[in-house]
Amino acid sequence: MTKIIAVFNQAGGVMKTTLTHNLGYHLHLKKRKTLLIDMDPQGSLTTFMGLEPHELDQIIGNSILNEETSLPIHKNLNGIDLVPANITLSAVELQLASVMAREVRLKQALEQIKNQYDYIVIDCPPSLAILSILSLTAANYVLIPIQTHFKAFKGTELLLDTIKQIKKHVNPHLAIAGFVPTLFSNANQDKVILEALEQQLTPLATVYPAIPRATAFADAAMNRQPLALYSAKHPSLDVLKKIAQGMEKLP
Ligand SMILES: Nc1ncnc2c1ncn2[C@@H]1O[C@H](COP(=O)(O)OP(=O)(O)OP(=O)(O)O)[C@@H](O)[C@H]1O
Ligand SMILES: [Mg+2]
Repeated sequence: MTKIIAVFNQAGGVMKTTLTHNLGYHLHLKKRKTLLIDMDPQGSLTTFMGLEPHELDQIIGNSILNEETSLPIHKNLNGIDLVPANITLSAVELQLASVMAREVRLKQALEQIKNQYDYIVIDCPPSLAILSILSLTAANYVLIPIQTHFKAFKGTELLLDTIKQIKKHVNPHLAIAGFVPTLFSNANQDKVILEALEQQLTPLATVYPAIPRATAFADAAMNRQPLALYSAKHPSLDVLKKIAQGMEKLP
């Protein structure tokens, strides 16, 4: 069965896209056929994977709005497939307001191709609005990066409540695949928040080891590469490997 994982947090800049990209690559290293979906009008994942968002005229939004339009899949970008996004996805968001049963539109769009993949990983935008709801409705798992900062910690309750609402109203089978503390630095605040996150979240799902703040992630992205290709011996690769292993163990 295909595992469809939404990488979600309504907070901005917490490593959603970087995690999606690198998780995708580590699943590929495990010989798993993997498709990434960019659901963010910013198109960061599309950029990180080496495409120019503004040059694309077919994006995920076309297939969401029109069931007849097959998914624009770009194949084998460093071994991973991608359905891209660009800024026109924000217009799609507005158009969706008048579409019937809009929550299931991404789920339906994935229906026709999902059997070709072991994993589909969806990069959500930093919002609780419709594009995130579509993503969480299409997924069977949600993977949650959380920055080890006070503000992020405060947002966790809203995040968990959103997942509860999605389960109640549109996707009862959604399960939490895990939490990933991110952008960890050795400052005292980060240590205190990490401990609090671990205490609060461990009863709910696996809390992975923290991913440290490291410029190599940003440099790799600028180079359009996953970290493993950019810096083959980087210490953070261990956590990424663990997360990929964790996804394999999900039921
Ligand atoms: N561990 C890290 N250390 C330092 N910088 C990082 C790290 N991970 C990602 N970055 C950089 O931080 C920025 C934000 O990361 P990313 O785009 O993955 O976050 P995001 O949650 O997807 O953001 P958004 O909410 O805007 O979609 C990017 O420039 C990225 O290259
Ligand atoms: Mg992002």
